[in-house]
Amino acid sequence: SMNMGTAGNMTMDHAHMPSGRATPIASLQAPQTAAHIRHFRLTARAVKLNIGGKMIEAWTYNGTAPGPTLRVRQGDSVEVKLTNTLPEGVTIHWHGVAVPNIADGVAGVTQNAVKQGETYTYRFIANDPGTYWYHSHQQSNEQVKRGLFGMLIVDPKQPSQHDDVDAGLVFHDWGQARNDHPTVIKARPGDWVRLRLLNTDNDQHQATLIGAPFTISALDGHNLNGPQSLHEVLLPIGSGQRYDLRFRMPAQGAVRLVETGKTGEISSGLSALIGDGAAPNALSTPHPAQFDFTDYGQPRSNAITSNAHFDNENTMTLGSYPGFFNGSFGSVYTINGKAFPDIPPIVVKEGQLVKIRIVNETSTTHPIHLHGHTFAVLTHNGKPLTGSPVYLDTINLHDGDSYEIGFRANNPGLWMDHCHNLSHAAQGMDMMVVYP
Ligand code: C2O
Ligand code: CU
Repeated sequence: SMNMGTAGNMTMDHAHMPSGRATPIASLQAPQTAAHIRHFRLTARAVKLNIGGKMIEAWTYNGTAPGPTLRVRQGDSVEVKLTNTLPEGVTIHWHGVAVPNIADGVAGVTQNAVKQGETYTYRFIANDPGTYWYHSHQQSNEQVKRGLFGMLIVDPKQPSQHDDVDAGLVFHDWGQARNDHPTVIKARPGDWVRLRLLNTDNDQHQATLIGAPFTISALDGHNLNGPQSLHEVLLPIGSGQRYDLRFRMPAQGAVRLVETGKTGEISSGLSALIGDGAAPNALSTPHPAQFDFTDYGQPRSNAITSNAHFDNENTMTLGSYPGFFNGSFGSVYTINGKAFPDIPPIVVKEGQLVKIRIVNETSTTHPIHLHGHTFAVLTHNGKPLTGSPVYLDTINLHDGDSYEIGFRANNPGLWMDHCHNLSHAAQGMDMMVVYP
């Protein structure tokens, strides 16, 4: 749980709707707009799933895990009715989407958890194209693990690229049960293939593609500018992050997506076979490089850069100490020396350009996720980015990393900013970004 039960203001002023890019649906019904309204129904329910021959009791949206992929077009109004049949309360958080605060799905902050037999309706406009996902934000360390997640894809209004094959692949650890059969994806020679990779787990997954060169077309749903072709480069996919890979099917043979260890050895875990025929079983490079987004693609001038004038500057120092949290002894994960709910919030005013310097002083990885906003990565370990601008909603800090990120405060509300290793989040590493 995010343990937010007592911290949030449960009686939020509904009249104070956000005025940022995520417009409440009411204003869409003005006669001059002709946007589509897309209705979805998601029912949280328990089912038995067969994972690699083992039956597990999963908690799902609509009986599958991942839940149904919701696919809409940029500009669509999205309305999702969530009904809960589970014995515990659930919500839906739209990870990476700049929704109005009331639709953010954080139990105890923007809504109460939806109890058994209850229904809650989420409404937002899908303004930004890309690969997103949704998951419960009540007891999330338990509920995401048990299966309460799915993908949300927003297709661009004006597509600039054509994909013949478009497939989502989710890294999700079911514990003891594992599927050793690769996911098979149909593709013909010459087809353009887009793979949307999502990591729902607490720990990083490392993966690469063998059998064809590829580009990273988007990170966290946001296109990269002029991405170069990569060959067997290892992709460090942090918890909550999405990587869109794009490649062309070779004239013959199949392509394989594999998980790898640190040095490129193929490990068990998610694997996918794309196309027919033989696919390589190992990497051809002995010491594969690690993907580094700070030096990838072509620079572009319209980004928020480290030279911009910031109205509001903050630091988040990530730490940990052994101690008691919620009555049990273990690691307490801290921001600026304190654990949730004692971490002072970052206070921003609408319109400000905000900078946050995040420093990892622990020896573990922390994927830090900001709700309701997309941020530009400004620097890594003091060095400005040299390639494409990079916009993310979740940034993966390894041991000793420091990053500066910048964003425009354009979506008023109470927003969580937390580690997406949800077990760290359950042990203190959560704070708020608030608009007064
Ligand atoms: Cu994907 Cu606050 O979560
Ligand atoms: Cu963490």
